[in-house]
Amino acid sequence: MNCLNTDQLISEQIRHTPPSFIRSILNTAADPEIISFAGGLPNPASFPQEALLASMERIVTTYGSRVFQYSITAGLLQLRETIADRYRKKFGLNLGADHVLITTGSQQALDLLSKVLLNPGDGVIVEKPSYLGALQAFSQYRPAFHPVELSENGMNPEQLKNVLQKPVKLLYAIPNFQNPTGLSYSAQNREAIRALLSNKNIVLVEDDPYGELRFEGGRLPYIGAGHLPGSVLLGTFSKTITPGMRVGFLISENKDLIKHLSVAKEASDLHTNIFAQYLIWDYLQHSDYEAHIASITELYRQQAQAMTEAIDRYFPPSVSATRPRGGMFLWVTLPKGISALSLFPLALERKVAFVPGDPFYINEKDVNAMRLNYSNADCPTIEEGIRRLGELLWEKVGHSLCRK
Ligand SMILES: Cc1ncc(COP(=O)(O)O)c(C=O)c1O
Repeated sequence: MNCLNTDQLISEQIRHTPPSFIRSILNTAADPEIISFAGGLPNPASFPQEALLASMERIVTTYGSRVFQYSITAGLLQLRETIADRYRKKFGLNLGADHVLITTGSQQALDLLSKVLLNPGDGVIVEKPSYLGALQAFSQYRPAFHPVELSENGMNPEQLKNVLQKPVKLLYAIPNFQNPTGLSYSAQNREAIRALLSNKNIVLVEDDPYGELRFEGGRLPYIGAGHLPGSVLLGTFSKTITPGMRVGFLISENKDLIKHLSVAKEASDLHTNIFAQYLIWDYLQHSDYEAHIASITELYRQQAQAMTEAIDRYFPPSVSATRPRGGMFLWVTLPKGISALSLFPLALERKVAFVPGDPFYINEKDVNAMRLNYSNADCPTIEEGIRRLGELLWEKVGHSLCRK
């Protein structure tokens, strides 16, 4: 039998899409003896399994064949109404069900936005560093990336101002407990970005999977939602109920944009799994969602604290780390010139894993930073993993004096 030469067959689109670095890392770190801070998994203890089982029975009994039948692209009306209602009450946004599109995780929303907006060479502003799943989704359409530095307060407004002189179609931001850094944008930074974007013909995508998981400080307003006509807000039930059901949502007051995104979604998967949509909706009706979120937040507060305290105890002073006030990640910066990627195999030898910084950047190699996830390990395991990593860091960079 002749072999198939896929190299000659694959599209330019997929040729330019980087494979998920994290997935390959997770494969390497699959050894159960390895303490992995590499993934981005919610703690399985946070899945409300009993309540979901009750919801499964109830939706099958109550709605019968409807939970197994094809459905509409926009998503289950009751679920869209519930989401619109929640954002109306919590964030003062003037929304109805028509402003909400249910997506197969917020990852699909990133894909649909790319499909609808981007031609090769179109300008896209991203944070530096940014969520690698978004970089991967955008890369399929070969845009011109314009990374803007992310600092403790948010996106650098001066750099953003400069980049906005260029033709740009889309700005992608994760303003709350960002993946990978755990950083959040300050109120002042949000206002500054809003001011820079007003009167610009740009779609601002605020991706907010972690905003609900705040364990310190008060909620801050969105940058664009309720203020800018090109505002798109992404949400998901992945971090607050279950990622496996793949139910996310996109909110925009711009109905034209919603219409185009719906066409793209229809072409992509017709609609999001209707059983999963009924399940999430029923769960929201019959459970105390706010209390559930509060319990996850408390869990992650303790885990984040265990990690930051262990970092203070075990890491050399030449290494710094962000102090997240919510979400699932923190970001460790090594002394200048030290490649986190080069430390990765040595960490695996000590049975601990992290994600080196490289894949969160556009075309940067041997970055002196790493992402650590604290949501998927208990506090004693976190302490032990950080101790192992600390030993390695003392050995390799402990005597370095400079930070960054
Ligand atoms: C910033 C960000 N956006 C989107 C996603 C995708 O989430 P979902 O499970 O809703 O597709 C993730 C997942 O980790 C994320 O960190």
